[in-house]
Amino acid sequence: MNKQIILKKRPIGLPEEDTWELQNNPLRELKEGEILIQQHYVSLDPAMRGWINDIKSYIEPVELDDVMRAGSVGKVIKTNNHQKFKEGDYVTGWGGVQQYVITDGSSWFSVNPTIAPLPLFISTLGMPGMTAYFGILEAGRIKEGDIVLVSGAAGAVGSVVGQIAKLKGCRVIGIAGGAKKCSYLIDELGFDAAIDYKAVNIYDAIKQVCPKGIDVYFDNVGGEILDAALTKLRLHARVVICGAISQYNNKETPKGPGNYLSLLVNRATMQGILVTDYVEDYGKAAIEMGRWMAQGKLKSKEDIYESIENFYETFLRLFSGDKMGKLVLKVLE
Ligand SMILES: NC(=O)c1ccc[n+]([C@@H]2O[C@H](COP(=O)([O-])OP(=O)(O)OC[C@H]3O[C@@H](n4cnc5c(N)ncnc54)[C@H](OP(=O)(O)O)[C@@H]3O)[C@@H](O)[C@H]2O)c1
Repeated sequence: MNKQIILKKRPIGLPEEDTWELQNNPLRELKEGEILIQQHYVSLDPAMRGWINDIKSYIEPVELDDVMRAGSVGKVIKTNNHQKFKEGDYVTGWGGVQQYVITDGSSWFSVNPTIAPLPLFISTLGMPGMTAYFGILEAGRIKEGDIVLVSGAAGAVGSVVGQIAKLKGCRVIGIAGGAKKCSYLIDELGFDAAIDYKAVNIYDAIKQVCPKGIDVYFDNVGGEILDAALTKLRLHARVVICGAISQYNNKETPKGPGNYLSLLVNRATMQGILVTDYVEDYGKAAIEMGRWMAQGKLKSKEDIYESIENFYETFLRLFSGDKMGKLVLKVLE
């Protein structure tokens, strides 16, 4: 039997519990060339909110009555003459929120659990880490001495963005919700400063902490924080649009930033990025980030919650902020 989270409704605003249904369905036999993967960990990502809207995006929406899409990591426990994978291999891919996956193995990659614990392959050595790496280096084009502001800074992407920018000799300011997250950024991750956006006027705080302005703003949240960051751009600044979590549960179309003419005044660029555009180079990035981790220069934090039964409550933590680092659901019983 396979416990699965099935999409049942298209929510308006913050998803309610009946958006999904937990089902326990029998597993079918493997066909020639297929593998059975027992999933250990499922990645919970803000993008999941977008994937359940029935609108045109960079990827097809999840269909009603389908398994909820999600990245995952697990172990091959059975094969039927598969060319590439054998029993006992650990793999990562788009396994969805379920305990088992039957697949032909295309778009699945081997991972080595002796190099790093499994959850890391859906965290810093997986999609969020790749987003941070290519987002800040390719779109942010950081150089030594740059002033880098990053929002969602204690999250999976933002925490890695800030650390890479520090590694490259930038001054790094993080924006996060709450004193605990702000202390974590400075004391554990080595950020130069942090802004608790829940406790201050964000316009005043950015002005105060970045008196000389911002060379790169890495935006994970959109909305008012983006608008505030635009007021402090320096000449030729780069604004990286990675995500807009503050807008994902909006019931109306989000308003664009009011201060966008700062791009004109400062001859700045604003660029959207999509991690999958860099898939060919994931291996190279993972090797470099793995080396930084081994040298103690890059830290990764995974916040792991237990059991597929708790999918909904755990998913909500993305939006309440009640978690630290990468949000992961352990589905292995
Ligand atoms: N473009 C791409 O290819 C790509 C790939 C991966 C992720 N993304 C995007 O990157 C962003 C970060 O992803 P992630 O995986 O790092 O997420 P994450 O670890 O889950 O972090 C999400 C954090 O966002 C903060 N947040 C929630 N609601 C907020 C609001 N209204 N205003 C400000 N902050 C809010 C919360 O932290 P606080 O406690 O600090 O509020 C929460 O912990 C998301 O927007 C995601 O969609 C884009």
